[in-house]
Amino acid sequence: HVSDSAAKAAVAIARKISNAIKQHQLIGKTFRLGLATGATPVPLYKELIKLYQQGDVNFKNVHTYNLDEYDEISFDNPNSYHGFMRENLFDHINIPLEQTHFPSGDDPAAYDREIASVGGLDLLILGIGSNGHIAFNEPGSEKDSPSRLIELDASTIADNKQYFPDGDMPTRAITMGLKTILDTKTLVLMAWGDSKASIIAESLSCTPSADLPASFLQDHPNTLYFLDHGSASKL
Ligand code: GLP
Repeated sequence: HVSDSAAKAAVAIARKISNAIKQHQLIGKTFRLGLATGATPVPLYKELIKLYQQGDVNFKNVHTYNLDEYDEISFDNPNSYHGFMRENLFDHINIPLEQTHFPSGDDPAAYDREIASVGGLDLLILGIGSNGHIAFNEPGSEKDSPSRLIELDASTIADNKQYFPDGDMPTRAITMGLKTILDTKTLVLMAWGDSKASIIAESLSCTPSADLPASFLQDHPNTLYFLDHGSASKL
């Protein structure tokens, strides 16, 4: 789906998510929603908050599962992904914090077992790193990789260090593995702007391989790409 702007795409994706939540509510089922951090999902989170404030969606039957977290970071640090999610979504909607889940450095693979035991995720939001990573599955990550502790690529550190002006950016993270991501029923990858154009085109045209982890999405039966004219410009 190519939209005129991230804001317009966010309206469509938020509507899709809220409809799915409502359908699960009607049959008394929990909706399991995977969430990303970074700049890319912020317009979507704004739109979900708006729908909640208008009374169009409520999150009481939703459990969220974040893709990743930095290693050895205080959750009070606003640049931790716990902090990011509270600031950009959780503090503004009616989701109990005990229904929000993150991978833990103590036993990263426990996240895969926890998600598998509830039947997998219904829908998962993804951004894409400039090196083709999804979550923090850096190049070299195989399609059956478990949730785990990972060393961040030099390019990822360069991309994200702007958020850590004191220079205290962790160089390791705990990421959801590609196996749990690819086992999700519906994947929604979002990318905005010219800076993502090359990696988007490559991810859709190369032979799927661990060199570009997002390329494994080509083999997933239900992945949607939401782009703007900038990120779609090299397709
Ligand atoms: C981050 C996150 C990813 C995110 C990607 C792109 O480091 N771990 O989940 O999708 O890199 O970030 P941004 O949306 O800021 O471009």
